[in-house]
Order: sequence, then C-alpha cells, then structure tokens
Amino acid sequence: MKEKIRQLAKEKNAIILAHNYQPPEIQDIADLCGDSLELSIKAARTDAQIIVFCGVHFMAETACILCPEKTVLLPAPDAGCPMADMVDPQALSRRKQELGNIPVITYVNSSAAVKAVSDICCTSANVIKVVNSIDAQQVLMTPDKNLARYAAAHTDKQIHLWEGYCPFHNTLTAQDVKKARQEHPDALFIAHPECPPQVLELADSIQSTSGMIQFAGESTHTSFILGTENGLLYPISKAHPDKTFYAASEKMLCPDMKKITLENLADSLENLTGQVTVPEDIRIKALGAVQKMIAL
Ligand code: 13P
Ligand code: SF4
Repeated sequence: MKEKIRQLAKEKNAIILAHNYQPPEIQDIADLCGDSLELSIKAARTDAQIIVFCGVHFMAETACILCPEKTVLLPAPDAGCPMADMVDPQALSRRKQELGNIPVITYVNSSAAVKAVSDICCTSANVIKVVNSIDAQQVLMTPDKNLARYAAAHTDKQIHLWEGYCPFHNTLTAQDVKKARQEHPDALFIAHPECPPQVLELADSIQSTSGMIQFAGESTHTSFILGTENGLLYPISKAHPDKTFYAASEKMLCPDMKKITLENLADSLENLTGQVTVPEDIRIKALGAVQKMIAL
C-alpha cells in the first residue's frame, strides 16, 4: 500500500501534506509534516499539481484559497473540526458591527467563509505576532476563546472573545496537569494555546505543535509532558528518540484527525476522490486574510 501511494503521488505530480496529529503511518508516507502554519506555507509554495491534505477540512480549504489552479484532495471528506464549526460568517459579521467594525483576527481553524469576513488569520505559532501587527486598540478574535485569552496576556490591546474552543484541548484541567507532574517530577510541561488559562498558567512553555518539537530539541531537559492532542507523541518521539514524552491526559484525542487511512489516501490519489473546492468569490475575500498572515 505504501509503495502504491508513493508511486501514484509521483505519477500524478502530487504532494502529500500531513498534520502533526495524523496517524503514524500517514506521517511516515507524507512529503511534509507540520503545524498549520508550516503546512499553509508549503501549500502556497509547492509546484505539485495535486495537494493531498492529510488533516481536516479547514486545512484543505486553506490550500484551495492559496492555490486556485491546483487540485486539493482530502482523503476523508468528513474530517472536520468541531471548533471551526462554532462560528459562521453571518454571526461573525453581526458581532463585528456591534463592536463598531473593529478588526477581526480569525484562527486558521475556521471555514473559508469565515475567513472571508475576517481581516487577518493567525495560527497557534504566530498569534502574538499577528495581534501586535494590528493597527487598532481593540480586536475581535475568533473562534478560540483560549487562544484569544493567551494572546491577550501578550499584548496591550483589548481583545474581544468568541466563545469557541477545541473540545479536546479544552478538557485538560489543572488537576490533570498536577497529577502528570507528580507522576513525572523531572519532566517539563509544554502546553498548546488551545488549552484553558488555568492549564496555561502551569506551563513551562506554550507552543504550537511544531513549536513543541523544536522546544524539546533545544531544551537541556530530557522528559516532557505534552498538553496537546496525543497524536503529537509520534512525531516528537521520532524527532527526539533520546528524550521521553508523556501525554498530560489520555482524553486528548481528536477523532477527526484519525480519519485518514492508507486505504482512503490511496483511493483519493488514484480516483481523485475527496476533492475540496472553495467558491471563487469567497476564495478571493479569504485570500486577503490568509496572505496578510503569511506575509508577516
Ligand atoms: P497547530 O499544529 O497549528 O499547533 O494546530 C493545532 C490544531 O489543533 C490543529 O487542528
Ligand atoms: Fe479541531 Fe481540536 Fe481536532 Fe484540532 S484537535 S482539528 S482544533 S477539534
């Protein structure tokens, strides 16, 4: 199956991109793995004619926004993101108006239609840089309230929240972290900014998924507790085989991130199934917000 997939990718001039939470066999076969920011940048720069996105729907849509001339495939078309579904363009536009038309910063974990009514996008890797780049004293951040609170602690701007959250990161509690610390007293605790504020307060470092991989490599410590979706245990252990990584909680598993299999990946490449498209009027509007972020 693995040989078949690599052969099909070569014949069809396709690049396979995989998010850091994807199953190990999918990460192993991908041309590139990374966090949301790295994957967006890679999608924007690739010469390949087909982009196969092993991730969730909003990631494939971001590739469509950036590469209108390419075919973008999501091998499991029902792989969505519950947090992205917590905001819609009509409600967001209404809120923006209520707040006096202040700039809207939208996490990439959102639909193309939501990006289209936003001023700029951000990811977990660049959120502070994005917030501080805005030429206004007040901003509205959507959809993740935890990411917005994290950004608020690193800026003097007033940030208005949207009440969205990741159902998996948001379940991590301070109690879970304290228990994990008791079990692994020498380990540093690294948290993803989608975690609640009480958890982030306990973190030795707050990072995107690829930021965690880099942080662990640069640290003199040899063991780490990860406050993120547990799929990250695979690439971080692969990158640093001499170090030890523990999950902060077994609860942090995103089923949508596990929907891509070698079988549906091969089928998608062979038959071009799971094609994702974005209507051109929405794409053009969303492109402005994504490009502003990438340019920073
Ligand atoms: P990053 O990999 O950008 O940190 O994103 C985390 C995430 O939840 C993606 O769905
Ligand atoms: Fe969405 Fe959370 Fe799953 Fe990421 S881990 S895709 S934010 S539900």
